[in-house]
Amino acid sequence: MPASTSSDLTLSVNGEKFTLTVDHRTTLLDALRERLDMTGTKKGCDQGQCGACTVLLDGRRSVACLQLAVAAEGREITTIEGVADGERLHPVQQAFLDLDGFQCGYCTPGQICSAIAVIEEHAAGWPSAATGDVRPEAGPPPLTPEEIRERMSGNLCRCGAYVSIVQAVARAAEETKGAAA
Ligand code: FES
Ligand code: FES
Repeated sequence: MPASTSSDLTLSVNGEKFTLTVDHRTTLLDALRERLDMTGTKKGCDQGQCGACTVLLDGRRSVACLQLAVAAEGREITTIEGVADGERLHPVQQAFLDLDGFQCGYCTPGQICSAIAVIEEHAAGWPSAATGDVRPEAGPPPLTPEEIRERMSGNLCRCGAYVSIVQAVARAAEETKGAAA
């Protein structure tokens, strides 16, 4: 008897459970866009190079085009559709809006999901390749434009809106820090 090539699975997306049957080769990106009609997560390269499909898996960044849907079962998936608090935009969304952190907007959902995780990773003291002093006791480095550029380097923007993106991430990080204090 040939092995089955599809499985039933339950995905938890933005706090809601969805049960579906997928071919084992279906990526999380295609499951979100084609099966669950969540088209906020964008497909750019479909090979892990542009970051347009970035979502959060258990709060960590993941490019959904390289993640199989079956491997995402049991994890909490957050997409751009789920980052706002009801009518209230997430501080990162608001900062992108206020500071024009986009032009065509195609890369923006991925940029925003990535930035949300960047701010948390930085606050937790994770160093980046741009961090001078990586000793744990040194604590989080100043979130300079260089740090932000390095930490956001997996998210490409074909419109070249990088200057505003860096400013938006910096402002959202400041606000988040203020809110946590
Ligand atoms: S579409 Fe996934 S990284 Fe480009
Ligand atoms: S705003 Fe157009 S790709 Fe980034």
